[in-house]
Amino acid sequence: MTTVARVRDAWTDAVDPGRRIGHTLEFVPVIDSTNDRARELLGQPRGEGTVVVADLQRAGRGRHGRSWQSPSGRNLTMSVGLRPRLTAGRAWLLSAASALAVLDAARPHARLSVKWPNDLVAADGRKVAGILVETSMDGERLRDAVIGIGVNVNWRRDEMPDELAAGATSLADQARHEVHRVELLASLLAHLDAGLAAAETGDSPLERYRRECVTIGHDVTVQAPDGPIDGRAVAIDDLGGLVVETAIGPVTVTSGDVVRVLGASS
Ligand code: BTN
Repeated sequence: MTTVARVRDAWTDAVDPGRRIGHTLEFVPVIDSTNDRARELLGQPRGEGTVVVADLQRAGRGRHGRSWQSPSGRNLTMSVGLRPRLTAGRAWLLSAASALAVLDAARPHARLSVKWPNDLVAADGRKVAGILVETSMDGERLRDAVIGIGVNVNWRRDEMPDELAAGATSLADQARHEVHRVELLASLLAHLDAGLAAAETGDSPLERYRRECVTIGHDVTVQAPDGPIDGRAVAIDDLGGLVVETAIGPVTVTSGDVVRVLGASS
């Protein structure tokens, strides 16, 4: 048996044929971006819910046009294409449900929190995982979505480039032991599947998201599309927007990144 075949067999342990998310899994050793492959699969029979896992992405991307770096075979880089039964206005629930699924799957190894909108951070504020949800709309309805998740699993801070090590960590760093990537994925897919089903039936993850969101109550700088916003993060509104109390009153930010919390850059 070749190395690639053995790796593929192992990832298949995360599959559950009866489940919508992860009924099938496609492992690729190297790819540009798993999000692109998951979107391609949406055009194929049974492509919805097929999980794409790569050991290495040549052009992994993050939110707001950033790149996503991850060394070969150490972490979890996965995507899944879906046709969620959600209105465009509720598309944000995909992002919240994904963040909570990562948090739950990581729980045996590390107590993570959500940093608005959907970064997963360790207790020291360092980033463990990121989520990129790419959607297409059909009027008021969400036509489809690709959820891409990158988790730093066994990539130790002392192996990371300096510019990442300052603000990033991994499950293995937190747990002080190697973490089994396939078991992590299996748990993540089960939680994501349940979270999506709940969101579609009107059972919103918002209350739990609010409880897990570490951003609230802190003085922040949010890098928004129109420029930075400084103030105290006071709430998450019903559409997932971050409400920031600024010098000129409350501002709701629907897109952006929290780049500073209490003076600590991240
Ligand atoms: C972010 O924090 O900005 C989001 C990072 C998302 C990275 C994942 S890795 C798997 C999937 N494929 C990509 O190209 N990006 C996402």
